[in-house]
Amino acid sequence: MHVFTGLAELRRQINEWKAEGQRIGFVPTMGNLHAGHFALVELARQRADKVVASIFVNPTQFGPNEDYARYPRSEQRDCGGLQAHGCDAAFLPTADVMYPFGAKNTVQMHVPGITDILCGAYRPGHFNGVATVVARLFNMVQPDLAVFGRKDYQQLQVIRYMAAEMSFPVEIVPAPTLREASGLAMSSRNQYLTDAERVTAAEVYRTLCFMRDAYLAGTPVERIEHEAFARLEAQGFEVDYAEIRSAELGRLARARTSARVALIAARLGLTRLIDNLEFDSQEGS
Ligand code: PAF
Repeated sequence: MHVFTGLAELRRQINEWKAEGQRIGFVPTMGNLHAGHFALVELARQRADKVVASIFVNPTQFGPNEDYARYPRSEQRDCGGLQAHGCDAAFLPTADVMYPFGAKNTVQMHVPGITDILCGAYRPGHFNGVATVVARLFNMVQPDLAVFGRKDYQQLQVIRYMAAEMSFPVEIVPAPTLREASGLAMSSRNQYLTDAERVTAAEVYRTLCFMRDAYLAGTPVERIEHEAFARLEAQGFEVDYAEIRSAELGRLARARTSARVALIAARLGLTRLIDNLEFDSQEGS
């Protein structure tokens, strides 16, 4: 596996592959890789000829009181894992490569609408920071397709919107969420959980299933959301939101299709957990 830190060397390799007619699949990450990320690499491998993964802990998507400084960094182990899963190149840009004039002076993306709701309301600027770095990465890697996990549902919608609206010639490929046996969605942040918290954390998925089942049984949405909130609080979570939305993340009253998603963001001790469950409101009817 090639490991690139500079843009020129990365571009040279990408151009060579493209000249040979190879399709480039891309998996952007912030490192600290686990089975969930490797599943994204596997999916990219199935859909493309060459797979490039990036590792960059992006400062512009962290708020001032968030975990940027303590975000786990494990580049050597990550590169070993990427190689073992058949990745062809790892791109590890330094901050100077990503933001040559400094992160504060960078040209920024602003994706209207869906960046201010749900997690965006609790993490101001977060999704615009994500959109900014993903746009830069698309420019640098020039992939034919890029894989993003469904676990970060709102991020996936922001990127889909940005790629379509900006006419990036990149196919956005969503990948299913990988879960532990308890139902806990795999996430780099799970490693902040104590053993006891890890057991409690599985309540997030159970609550999502409760929300879906109650919705399909015809329970009014306000009541479901209220009960989900109370259920999580009773287990010791500090809940940001527990909501059911249309698949495009609009309010249900304006839903264009029968596709729905239940979403939860809640803090357990020092760890903020997010998860979601997609379903069809006509399921079983
Ligand atoms: O999902 C992530 O790990 C990050 O938000 C991403 C897409 C790599 C951008 O920094």
